[in-house]
Amino acid sequence: MGAIQLSQSPDGAPIFSVTARTPTNIAVIKYWGKRDEALILPLNSSLSVTLDPNDLAATTTVAISPAFEEDKLWLNGKEVSISDSVRYQNCLRAVRERAQGIEAGGEKASQEQLRSWRIHVASRNNFPTAAGLASSAAGFACLVFSLAQLLGVTEERPGDLSAIARLGSGSACRSLYGGFVRWNMGQASDGHDSIAEQVAGEEHWPDLRVLVAVVNDRQKDTSSTAGMQQSVRTSPLLLHRAKAVVPERMVAMERAIAARDFQAFGALTMADSNQFHATCLDTSPPIFYMNDASRQVIGLVEQWNAQAGEIKAAYTFDAGPNAVLFCLEADRGALLRRLLYHFPPSDSTPLNEYVESAELLKEASVS
Ligand code: DP6
Repeated sequence: MGAIQLSQSPDGAPIFSVTARTPTNIAVIKYWGKRDEALILPLNSSLSVTLDPNDLAATTTVAISPAFEEDKLWLNGKEVSISDSVRYQNCLRAVRERAQGIEAGGEKASQEQLRSWRIHVASRNNFPTAAGLASSAAGFACLVFSLAQLLGVTEERPGDLSAIARLGSGSACRSLYGGFVRWNMGQASDGHDSIAEQVAGEEHWPDLRVLVAVVNDRQKDTSSTAGMQQSVRTSPLLLHRAKAVVPERMVAMERAIAARDFQAFGALTMADSNQFHATCLDTSPPIFYMNDASRQVIGLVEQWNAQAGEIKAAYTFDAGPNAVLFCLEADRGALLRRLLYHFPPSDSTPLNEYVESAELLKEASVS
């Protein structure tokens, strides 16, 4: 990953390219609400788990050449206008202005050339786009990571690249690191300290398991960006959450992760997901990201935990109905059995409404 490839355009001009893959992340302490829309500065810090890139990831190829006439972007094989996307432009500009020289296959490109040549980007997700599975997180993280490789950009300060990925989508800044990642909200008005940082590596908690139950892979009605704007404008609970709840929860969550304390980790994860969705309900007009199937998943997890007298599994939902479930390896089989019992694979199951079969239970290990 990361090596610069050299090829040629039909008229012999060099094309330098890089292909990279970046996983998505699932927040266990949620980011919801911005204090600065343009710089994507959050109202609170957040914390996520990065998934295995083999399961839920974006793969992006970026290429640069004097033969290209304009910047272009393809998402999942479809060309998308880059001039309509301020976020893509912001990321491109930020990496481009830090370009250094590169060399590949005996060809060189100077800093000046890299800053003036046009760029082509082709990105693909191996999971439903905009169905609440943080596809923008993986996509922008991958764009920034691969562009930085292509243009020879290295970080002056740790986290610099995550600050650029943040300009694409807030949650993207956390996808540049594996394991458990904190996004510090930061204080500075230019956002240079609003960066992601790894709190524990992927090897830290080997028996933690993540299961993604795809309840619905349709595009969601309210994007995270629009939803959080609405919440910032109208939800009194949001500010309370950002100021009075999340700071303590961040500390408690980091402590739980450090101690590999699944009871504390699970309790905090579920509480934070529920408060995030309560904030959505507290928004006017209210936003509903979860559906009946999501609530059924909550019910079966809560019931199992109550029966066991301890937390066996923990759920979290982002801006969509799909459930992300955490458990320990010892309980993985039992969790899968419970899900399949409640959501049996069947042709008559309304498609997209229920977890369809084991195949849709994308299992991801922490990476
Ligand atoms: C519910 O990062 O998608 O997944 O910054 O506007 O692009 P923008 O929003 P985005 O929001 C993610 C919200 C969330 C919680 C989280 O990932 O922390």
